[in-house]
Amino acid sequence: MSLSSKTIPELKTMCKEKNLKGVSGKSKADLIALLEASSVPPSLPQTSTVLSLDALLNTVSQGDCISSMKSMPANSIDMVCTDPPYFLDGLGDDWNPTALEKKGSSAVIGNLPKGMKFDRNQARKFREFYTKVSVEVFRILKPGGAFLSFSSPRLYHAMATAVEEAGFEIRDMLGWIYTQSQVKAFSQDHIIEKDKTLTAEQKQALKQVCRNWKTPQLKPAIEPICLAVKPIEGRYIDTFQAYGTGLLNTSDETKVGDGYFPSNILTADPVEETLDKVFLVPKPTKVEKGEYNTHLSVKPVNLISHLIKLFTKDSAIVLDPFLGSGTTAVACKHSNRKYIGIEINQEYVKIAEKRLKDA
Ligand SMILES: C[S@@+](CC[C@H](N)C(=O)[O-])C[C@H]1O[C@@H](n2cnc3c(N)ncnc32)[C@H](O)[C@@H]1O
Repeated sequence: MSLSSKTIPELKTMCKEKNLKGVSGKSKADLIALLEASSVPPSLPQTSTVLSLDALLNTVSQGDCISSMKSMPANSIDMVCTDPPYFLDGLGDDWNPTALEKKGSSAVIGNLPKGMKFDRNQARKFREFYTKVSVEVFRILKPGGAFLSFSSPRLYHAMATAVEEAGFEIRDMLGWIYTQSQVKAFSQDHIIEKDKTLTAEQKQALKQVCRNWKTPQLKPAIEPICLAVKPIEGRYIDTFQAYGTGLLNTSDETKVGDGYFPSNILTADPVEETLDKVFLVPKPTKVEKGEYNTHLSVKPVNLISHLIKLFTKDSAIVLDPFLGSGTTAVACKHSNRKYIGIEINQEYVKIAEKRLKDA
């Protein structure tokens, strides 16, 4: 019987049987989407396609992460640290560097700079996509394993909801703060200029009135990171003993600034003396991005190394399902953790492999 012929209570019971959380108050369509996202397609029977993890350790594979994760064993990964497509315009699950380049050297998409077009559907599409990702991540993470996902301030809420719906406990929102960024707000001059209903004098007058008024976008200075954990089994100490997960590493290697306890605000580069004292993560010791790296959204290696050390022990297995140019894998190599990287785009896979050779 298809899911659409079921009643809401029946769908809720099915969600409960699959241990899917956050079902209360959900519409029928949302419950169906949740169940569909959690089910393995018949063409990919789990038992016959699950691979041994050994073959994937310290490798970067090209492919779609949702189907790739389906072939990984349950409860096998210590941490997932990732920076998925943000689902702002041009940067969705159809992320395509060639198409982005074609949009012009001024990085303009549909007359607006990348990531600026406002579309209410972006949040819904992102939530649907990230629920599918999170359901797979939930299955393969060990109990107590951390799931960290970077996001944009505008669509963070959709990400956090998707992660929670997949069964995770949201524990915090970390904020990576930075000072180097472009102002996105733009003036109305070009809109006024194109307005055929206005005379030249009227245009001039209107431009003068609006000269200090721009689209409602503050200069970006923070990137939220959703910190979620797969529920522990028993007590924290039980999970830590059984799986090596569930607790936070507070040793010297995770101290920030002048030896401070790690906080939920992070800076990867010096910002200002007082802030640096309490928020600055340790500097990398080796080559950072790689001159050949053409990826649009490369994260600082020291930031990722810090996150990995916070939530995993030495030699732990860290998966990045949206590896991009390989930052998480490079950070794992620097931090003595094992990595598994998945990236859909062959060009970025090659960059990641080159960076790993240099790391
Ligand atoms: C924000 S970028 C990650 C950048 C990375 N943090 C770095 O430092 O290079 C997101 C990446 O996800 C990849 N991607 C998009 N959809 C994917 C999918 N379904 N499976 C695997 N990778 C995907 C994109 O090609 C893109 O490189």
